Parts: sequence; structure tokens; C-alpha cells
Amino acid sequence: MIKHEALEKNIGLLSIFMVIAVAIGGLTQIVPLFFQDVTTQPVEGMKPRPALELEGRDVYIANGCVGCHSQMIRPFRAETERYGHYSVAGESVWDHPFLWGSKRTGPDLARVGGRYSDDWHRAHLNNPRDLVPESIMPAYPFLADTRIDSTLTGKKMAVLRSLGVPYTDADIAGASEAVKGKTEMDALVAYLQGLGTLIKSKR
Ligand code: HEC
Repeated sequence: MIKHEALEKNIGLLSIFMVIAVAIGGLTQIVPLFFQDVTTQPVEGMKPRPALELEGRDVYIANGCVGCHSQMIRPFRAETERYGHYSVAGESVWDHPFLWGSKRTGPDLARVGGRYSDDWHRAHLNNPRDLVPESIMPAYPFLADTRIDSTLTGKKMAVLRSLGVPYTDADIAGASEAVKGKTEMDALVAYLQGLGTLIKSKR
């Protein structure tokens, strides 16, 4: 048995035991999360993102929206009053990678779906200052001129399926048809309108 005094006087030994103590504390908090349904199962009624929204998610990633917008409503009154029901883990079990973000230069977007019309989003993305004069969000007018590469959509779905997202064969077969001729703007707006619509805010 090591005397506590010996432990306190030997920096090497102290470091080792500190790491062990912290690891036990960390693991008892983290490991159970891998086995709880509430953190690993999708929320009831959740469906995988349709093809167009999936492409929109990639547009969101490619244009760095996550650098200014979080998608993670914390369970605090100030947040839920403004954004709606706090985010739950089950909503993002199929997101690879997740886009919770950590920087809020703009508002949280976890439940922006349905808050504005499609036309609002188009006008806002085209030039945010047309709708919100003091906005510092960049303009993304080029999204309306860029078409989605529909040849890749099915492949993306197949990859996600290998990671556990339950796309059906029919989803994958119809993917490229569903996004054919659509612009990045169409896809991004569809994605935004789908965000967080499963758990309605109680406002
Ligand atoms: C430089 C930071 C920045 C970037 C990058 C950015 N935004 Fe914003 N965004 C903001 C700010 C600030 C606001 C609040 C003012 C406004 O509405 O324009 C905002 C507002 C919004 C809103 C309205 C949210 C609400 O609840 O009113 C949406 C939707 C949005 N952004 C989507 C996007 C998308 C999609 C992208 C990527 C294509 C993006 N933003 C990129 C800063 C940013």
C-alpha cells in the first residue's frame, strides 16, 4: 500500500495516479452514454434526410455556415425562449459529421425550419442586408447559379447507409432524379426548412 505522503512527494507517481483518477471519473460519465437509447437512438418518427436536403447539408458544410451558426440549443431558459425546444441527442444520430458548431456569430439554426418562407431564405442568402440591414452575414448569390452534381447523390446515401442511416434501395435509386437540375440554393433552402422540425417548440 502506498502511503499518501509518498504519493504527494513524488511528482511522477502523483501524475500517474492523477491520470488514473481523472480517467475513472471521465469513463464513468462517458461510457454509459454509448449504451443509452436516449443518446444512440433516433427520436420517434425521424426519417433520413431526403436527397435534396442531404445535398443542401453539403452546401452548408462547403460554404462554412457552421463557422458562424451553431445547431445546438442548450437547455437554458434564455435559449429555449428564443430558439424553441432544446436539442436532443436523438436528433443528430444520423448526422455524419454532426454540425453542432460552437461559434455563434449568427443565431442558432437548430430549429430554423419553418420559421421563414422559402422566398425569405432565398432573398436572405442572396443578400442578407436586403432583409436585415445591420446583418454582417456574407452574401451567397452564386448558390443560385450552381447546379447540384446529381451523379453523386446516390453514392453519398449509400455511404451514409453503411454508417447506419436507414436509406432504402428506392431512396438511393431515386436520388439523382430527385436533385436533377436543382441549384445549390434550392438544396440549401430545403435543408434549412427541414432543420429541427421533428420536435416542435412549445411556444
Ligand atoms: C460571418 C458569419 C456568418 C456566416 C459565414 C453565415 N452567417 Fe448566417 N447569419 C449571420 C448573422 C450575423 C445573422 C443575423 C443577421 C441576419 O439575419 O442576417 C445570420 C442569420 C442567418 C439566418 C437567419 C436566422 C434567424 O433565425 O433569423 C439564417 C437562416 C442563416 N443566417 C443561414 C446561413 C447559411 C445557410 C449560411 C451559409 C451559406 C450562413 N448563414 C453563413 C452570420 C453568418
